[in-house]
Amino acid sequence: MVDRAAELLRGASTAVALTGAGVSAESGIPTFRGEGGLWTKYDPVKVSSIDSFLADPASYWQVSKERGNIALAARPNPGHEALAAMETAGRLVAVITQNTDGLHQAAKSRRVIELHGSGRTVECLECGARESRADVQARLDLEMPPRCKSCGGGVLKPTVVLFGEPMPVDAVNEALELARVADVILVVGSSLVVYPAAEIPLIAVRSGARMIVVNAEPTPFDGLAEIVIHGRSGEVLPEIAQLIGA
Ligand code: APR
Repeated sequence: MVDRAAELLRGASTAVALTGAGVSAESGIPTFRGEGGLWTKYDPVKVSSIDSFLADPASYWQVSKERGNIALAARPNPGHEALAAMETAGRLVAVITQNTDGLHQAAKSRRVIELHGSGRTVECLECGARESRADVQARLDLEMPPRCKSCGGGVLKPTVVLFGEPMPVDAVNEALELARVADVILVVGSSLVVYPAAEIPLIAVRSGARMIVVNAEPTPFDGLAEIVIHGRSGEVLPEIAQLIGA
């Protein structure tokens, strides 16, 4: 199946990747669903919706602090690096990601579209000032929830999309545009159960793209995909990259 995936990508003129938390699992960042997923320990609506955040930012930050320590220390794995190599070799035009860990950029992918925002910065809900997440992470032991250093009082919120928040318009528009023109959509490490992000591969397929799914376990879109590889992206993607000369 890896050979067939490589053949499809070799023949593509506009291949686009859509990634989810599974692509960062081998960097040590827990996924949300599936074995050991974050949502098997916490109720996502309670800890990761905008309503629960506004009602009780400290609870959100308690969970986010733990995940932040892991994400900030994480490094790209061979799966991220393979996608960056495919882009450099001209075999992939962009990575659309649901992840907020910044690991695609760290792996030197150049065109990365973050549908769910970035966990690398935080924003004050009062004055709009922004700080790096790393700076804020450093003071979470002393200050919970963290307060804005500029205006002194505002609650800080990571610039990520919480449940109940809209996705960033520019990112959505760019992702939709790519989905419509893609002739191959490579979906990696996503359970494909969260909309509207999961709509992207459906739009691509409806617009004539051929879908490749690389995921550790079955997804709802496997039946729509031309090629399905159940495996770890850190192993499968480098094999594909090598076969296409990336
Ligand atoms: N290689 C490939 N796939 C993997 C690996 C791996 N090493 N490890 C886990 N997976 C798969 C899991 O089997 C699962 O199907 O990755 C998928 C991850 O699914 P989720 O945890 O649901 O992550 P994602 O699809 O990105 O979630 C979408 O939900 O909670 C929100 O905002 C959050 O962006 C997230 C969105």
